[in-house]
Amino acid sequence: MSIAKSFFNQTRKPEGFLGKMMLGTMNSGHAKMADWGFTHLPVIAPEKAVDLGCGGGRNAGELMKRYPKARVTAVDYSDLSVEKAKDYNKEMIAAGRCEVLQGDVSKLTLPEGEYELATAFETIYFWPGLEKCFAEVARVLKKGGYFMICNESDGTDPTSLKFEKIIDGMKNYTSEEIESALKAAGFSEVTADHHPAKPWITVLARK
Ligand SMILES: C[S@@+](CC[C@H](N)C(=O)[O-])C[C@H]1O[C@@H](n2cnc3c(N)ncnc32)[C@H](O)[C@@H]1O
Repeated sequence: MSIAKSFFNQTRKPEGFLGKMMLGTMNSGHAKMADWGFTHLPVIAPEKAVDLGCGGGRNAGELMKRYPKARVTAVDYSDLSVEKAKDYNKEMIAAGRCEVLQGDVSKLTLPEGEYELATAFETIYFWPGLEKCFAEVARVLKKGGYFMICNESDGTDPTSLKFEKIIDGMKNYTSEEIESALKAAGFSEVTADHHPAKPWITVLARK
């Protein structure tokens, strides 16, 4: 495998030296898109929120800034992501407002009906079966809770389709495919938005 391919494959599950390098760029690299995504959330005041596939932990930190009363759980299946997200949020962890857990979104070890908000930024491309994983998200949300997905790819843009060929197991989805998997997993009130100038999409669903 070429170095470039090995490096880009670190987006799926950061590991080793290249994974550390990739994680070093993730928080800043996804910040603009994530902040655009956050503008789609309705006015809510969650007490508990969860960021799934948290990577370096920046968006879990944003959730705590935006929702000062919220306690935030960040989950990732990569050791390195967990380590980086813990370091990024160390003050909030010490303050008792944040926990970072290692776990796979397809079989979350989180309690049922616990969270008012779940977020997933730049991660569903790698989830093993959308409908199954979305059903897990629905399980841990309270009734009426929101799930927001934010992707840099709208499933048709040429750059992301190129990455699909480079990164093992990556799948770009259209907003229609995401909407349909969310509905099949039991979500209602699903809405999608496309950035006016970029291939970014945000899909918001309510349990
Ligand atoms: C491209 S990174 C995005 C990280 C972060 N959300 C962001 O926007 O910067 C994808 C992250 O999703 C995690 N991930 C992928 N599949 C996962 C799964 N099945 N369960 C938990 N985490 C997963 C990877 O380990 C990686 O840290």
